[in-house]
Amino acid sequence: MKGLILAAGHGTRLRPLTYTRPKPVIRVAGRPIIAYAVDNLTRVGVREIGVVVSPKTKEEVAAALNGEQSARFTFIVQEDPQGLAHAVRVARDWLGDDPFLMYLGDNLFENGIGDLVAAFQKEKPSAALALVEVKDPRQFGVAVVEDGRIVRLVEKPQEPPSNLAIAGVYAFTPEIHAMIEDLKPSARGEYEITDAIQKLIDAGKPVLGVRVQGWWKDTGRPADLLEANRLLLAQLEPRLEGTVEGGQVVGPVVIEAGARVKNSRVLGPALIAAGAVIEDAYVGPYTAVGPEAVVKDAEVEYSILEARSRLEGVSIHGSLLGVGAEVKRHDRRPRTPSLILGDLSRVEVPD
Ligand code: TTP
Repeated sequence: MKGLILAAGHGTRLRPLTYTRPKPVIRVAGRPIIAYAVDNLTRVGVREIGVVVSPKTKEEVAAALNGEQSARFTFIVQEDPQGLAHAVRVARDWLGDDPFLMYLGDNLFENGIGDLVAAFQKEKPSAALALVEVKDPRQFGVAVVEDGRIVRLVEKPQEPPSNLAIAGVYAFTPEIHAMIEDLKPSARGEYEITDAIQKLIDAGKPVLGVRVQGWWKDTGRPADLLEANRLLLAQLEPRLEGTVEGGQVVGPVVIEAGARVKNSRVLGPALIAAGAVIEDAYVGPYTAVGPEAVVKDAEVEYSILEARSRLEGVSIHGSLLGVGAEVKRHDRRPRTPSLILGDLSRVEVPD
């Protein structure tokens, strides 16, 4: 069985972060999002992984997977992200006649994808989809299930026929390719995988719905990244490899080799990556501080600080700092913020 990770999107909802960095390589709880997809695929025995990338995302995605020994990667270029079914069509030759797992490169699962794969292998349907119960299914593909079989799929319905959203992993037999061949774009102009699967269902082929156990997170928006960071940090095994001088480290905290924590309070779950410096500061729960980032005379909680970012003299919460981004206090007059922000950056200041 092959794996196909989709990583060719524009990630528009995560701008400005995705102007310079594809979504699957953004670090959540210290690792690129795509690394979790690779883990879950290799855990179910998939060793051949195709990664669908765009000309713009190719280099960074390949760099994020560089050194990953657990699987062999083939990069497949999708010139334009015209939909999930289009991504499969682009990968058609590489997939050949093998069954495959299609995995959205920005999705995270608490307990992996073992249940889906086991059901697919045991019951041998034409396709099997991971499903999860959600409160508001209107932003997802939604499945109607009868006796474990999916009988209908609707993409982002205004009036959802069920509360079962399609989570971002799909198991397919090669039968799906014929359904994609003459697919027409949907009203939003995309080649929808749900339309292709609906054609399988209409042809009388069995399509299984398999409930996902544990949480599932689609990291489309900034708030999702912070929430995913929280959920993953909560699973952290504490590890102290860096240096701690003075202050206090409490709870599940990882301090990687080469990180320095001085006169500071670190409250887990938190991760301080290699080479980061925390000085006269407070790093609170659900915070991941990236490699070589600096937090000095500052406070931070529930946040992601990417590599080489700096936080000095300021308290923040629920924030995302991109690679090399800086937030600092100044003591000049007037005492107003001085901002240099890229397009679509967002700053919220209290009264
Ligand atoms: P989406 O979340 O639908 O799209 P996106 O990542 O571009 O984000 P946005 O809506 O904010 O612009 O895509 C889900 C995953 O599938 C994501 O990892 C990108 C990938 N993808 C492709 O590889 N090719 C495609 O044609 C599409 C639509 C998505």
